[in-house]
Amino acid sequence: MIKVQFSPSSPTSGGSLSSSGRQYDSYDTSDLRVTMTSEDLLQPGHVVKERWKVVRKIGGGGFGEIYEGLDTVTKELVALKLESAKQPKQVLKMEVAVLKKLQGRDHVCRFIGCGRNDRFNYVVMALQGRNLAELRRAQPRGAFSLSTSLRLGLQILRAIESIHDVGFLHRDIKPSNFAMGRLPAAGRKVFMLDFGLARQYVTATGEVRPPRAAAGFRGTVRYASVNAHKNKEMGRHDDLWSLFYMLVEFVNGQLPWRKIKDKEQVGS
Ligand SMILES: Nc1ncnc2c1ncn2[C@@H]1O[C@H](COP(=O)(O)OP(=O)(O)O)[C@@H](O)[C@H]1O
Ligand SMILES: [Mg+2]
Repeated sequence: MIKVQFSPSSPTSGGSLSSSGRQYDSYDTSDLRVTMTSEDLLQPGHVVKERWKVVRKIGGGGFGEIYEGLDTVTKELVALKLESAKQPKQVLKMEVAVLKKLQGRDHVCRFIGCGRNDRFNYVVMALQGRNLAELRRAQPRGAFSLSTSLRLGLQILRAIESIHDVGFLHRDIKPSNFAMGRLPAAGRKVFMLDFGLARQYVTATGEVRPPRAAAGFRGTVRYASVNAHKNKEMGRHDDLWSLFYMLVEFVNGQLPWRKIKDKEQVGS
């Protein structure tokens, strides 16, 4: 899973991963297996803030690194999301702000804690199960049944409604940013993840913020709306377009532009 941050005028390429593997790119790599390296911010056994013990790495490649951890106080499994303190584009603060605003709503992970040290910023939240990109690919036809797709779609729609309700756009709606619950009680519930690209779309008085003349591209090329490809200011409708593309991919197993890596070609 990779996020793109092209300025409107910048030349685009197919985008190869930088050596750190965490630079901007233009296609979804959430199917790559998670491998731990010595460059990782944490290793198994590390304890964060004398409380959360790292079990293993479960995600990363975008802006953050995600680890499964054990809360030594409550004995429950948690997810730790980290961002290097050295990273130029700091997004975890936004992530924490949105996650906190969404607490108590359906389809949202429970917030457990957050903090920072000289090496990284982190947020701790409830651990969920596998994401919807992995689950779709694990299906025999690489697609969900119509009924599964519709049931997922309805839950995702409600999750999007919740984030819009609190005044934010998600701006990176895609299958790897949703996960199923881990425990049997929530095994059929979808959870929305990753608020790193969220943006407030309302003013303090609750009006929709005036659009900027040109906004840099944010999101993931494969699921981006035509508007987003045109570098227009995004709105609630753009999150819904991404949901629509997700649903087509769920039912069909692919999108017509899945193999095109060039952002300009996908959007034209
Ligand atoms: N709370 C969580 N529980 C379980 N898995 C998670 C959780 N948060 C993230 N993940 C996994 O890590 C992956 C990357 O996390 P995400 O928040 O999307 O970060 P990024 O900014 O790197 O995309 C997700 O696709 C999901 O598989
Ligand atoms: Mg993500």
